[in-house]
Amino acid sequence: MKIMIINGPNLNLLGKREPEVYGNTTFEEYFSHLQMTFKEVQLAYFQSNIEGELIDKLQEVGFTYDGIILNAAAYTHTSVGLGDAVKAISTPVVEVHISNTFKREDFRHISHISANAKGVILGFGLKSYDLAIRSFL
Ligand code: DQA
Repeated sequence: MKIMIINGPNLNLLGKREPEVYGNTTFEEYFSHLQMTFKEVQLAYFQSNIEGELIDKLQEVGFTYDGIILNAAAYTHTSVGLGDAVKAISTPVVEVHISNTFKREDFRHISHISANAKGVILGFGLKSYDLAIRSFL
């Protein structure tokens, strides 16, 4: 089982960025924890602040991996291109958010990803990624 986690803009700052919303843990630390928890899963991780690089990665892994976990961060709410990429590939995508975007500003209630995702998990902090992996098992 091969699962790729793709994180979008500003998620490289986890641990430093708005800790009251996103917590104190870096994604690298959490990724190690995920690797220990899911030893039977081949987990890969990619982060970019650049929309086109996220689309390139979806296209690159989207026909061979068993699952993709996508937190497109702010591009969730703006990117038709990312939504189209999720629709174009054959690997199922689970959309993830650390925060409960529906408790936040109105512009975060729109997602260009959800309609083409297998499912959406949000609001459980970093545990959202753990739950997303379990959804593929
Ligand atoms: C986020 C929610 C988005 O609205 C925001 O732009 C992010 C992170 C989350 O994981 O809660 O950068 O995707």
